[in-house]
Amino acid sequence: PKSSTLATFVKKLTVRKLCHEQVITAVNGSLPGPTLRVREGDKLVVHVLNESPYNVTIHWHGVFQLLSAWADGPAYVTQCPIRPGHGYTYKFNITGQEGTLWWHAHVSWLRATVYGALIIRPRSGHRYPFPKPHKEIPILIGEWWNANVVNVESQGRLSGLPPNNSDAYTINGRPGDLYPCSKKQTYKLKVVQGKTYMLRIINAALNNQHFFKIANHRMTVVSVDAAYTEPYLTDVVVIAPGQTTDVLVTFDQRIGSYYMAAKPYASTVPAIPFDNTTTRGLILYEGDTSPAPVMPALPDFDDTPTAHRFYTNLTGLAGGPHWMPVPLHVDEHMFVTVGVNLLRGGQRFAASMNNESFVLPSRLSMLEAFFDNVSGIYTTDFPDKPAVKFDYTNPNIGNTSLIFTKKSTKVKKLKFNSTVEIVLQNTAFLAIENHPIHVHGFNFHVLAQGFGNYDVVNGPKCFNLVNPQSRNTIAVPVGGWAVIRFQANNPGVWLAHCHLDVHLPLGLAMGFQVENGPTPSSTLPPPPPDLPKC
Ligand code: C2O
Repeated sequence: PKSSTLATFVKKLTVRKLCHEQVITAVNGSLPGPTLRVREGDKLVVHVLNESPYNVTIHWHGVFQLLSAWADGPAYVTQCPIRPGHGYTYKFNITGQEGTLWWHAHVSWLRATVYGALIIRPRSGHRYPFPKPHKEIPILIGEWWNANVVNVESQGRLSGLPPNNSDAYTINGRPGDLYPCSKKQTYKLKVVQGKTYMLRIINAALNNQHFFKIANHRMTVVSVDAAYTEPYLTDVVVIAPGQTTDVLVTFDQRIGSYYMAAKPYASTVPAIPFDNTTTRGLILYEGDTSPAPVMPALPDFDDTPTAHRFYTNLTGLAGGPHWMPVPLHVDEHMFVTVGVNLLRGGQRFAASMNNESFVLPSRLSMLEAFFDNVSGIYTTDFPDKPAVKFDYTNPNIGNTSLIFTKKSTKVKKLKFNSTVEIVLQNTAFLAIENHPIHVHGFNFHVLAQGFGNYDVVNGPKCFNLVNPQSRNTIAVPVGGWAVIRFQANNPGVWLAHCHLDVHLPLGLAMGFQVENGPTPSSTLPPPPPDLPKC
């Protein structure tokens, strides 16, 4: 294992996209930002200098951050933001995970332009559990606004109305030639016929899941969220914001050019307006002279059966590198509703988990409050289940006590090493939606998922306790539920939230406070001296 040090500068960058010139916030002058390449076991030291006019933090999405919660990055949860002109050094080890993760700003909507790939290869002398690909290519699906995203977010939050839709999706920062003025901004990948490539697909879009396809080629999924899967052959990948999917593709077709394309999977009832456009990039076989690339046929935007088939067919690579068996004894059973509500006393939108609409503190980060035992920043009474049991996917809109939510900053307290199982249940007060729920600090096993109301009695009979997929982000099916289980082996305060940025500021979040264990090696160390102050 080695230690890599990286200096990053968050600052203004002028770019031209979709016929407009725009000033954005970016890292090291590029969009997406730099790709970090490490090996499992490495130590990463990243100096972040904030030369932008905004408060910034960087989150290392999916990194376990074992005993390094101070480096996790969500603003006001594990640190106060880095103010303009200031810096912070993130130090952490990468242990027990291999595959693709990513990093992004974790404050306001800045992650629309402040993001990049984090690639974790096996430590030297160790191998992939599949033949080594000829080349490995990051494919970052992004989302673009012809506007300052910090303003888009604050306008939405202050008005209580949904913020503006985006203007384009992108592949590696480029919208592709279906958008105006974007012919030159089409991502191109040159390939050699007969070789197998690994595409490390990351959904960095803010508010939409995506279907991803390559014309005339099939893909074999080998890992998701930096955990190996049983190889799964598919012609379409479905990926929610926050998730990553590594696929192997053998370019075994006629010499020619083929589009790779991504468009949203957005099934909501009632339909909610969204940007239903397609981003595409080109795959050019070496020696190609044909003028007309082949375009894949993408599923309809609301093709839930295709999405569900993909998500439920994935299984973990039991016994593979870093495989963790499913803990069979459960200490904490939770039933958590996820959905969009209204704020009590008004017509403003809110979103909540168990009807608690999460608000970030501003005086001190939650992790500092935990470490220094400061009260008044948050409370530890997050409910284990909803206050009332009801028909979640068909609620009585007239029952105002359920549709209205209140603001709070609550965490669920977990003993060190306890096992927690959570039923995540979508509600349908204002709309039935699909919520990608991301848990910081842990991967969890996905034991089961389905539609309608979760059946507490018979549900456990369908659990996969043998080889479930391991993830950090689960797309809870639209109008449905998912059951996840993880072991709380990492002391600190960890956010769990919807990775749709339209829902996070509305409160679709909660925290876990994991107590210290009995030994120094299970105790959160003190904060680094340069931890930013609020
Ligand atoms: Cu990728 Cu809390 O986020």
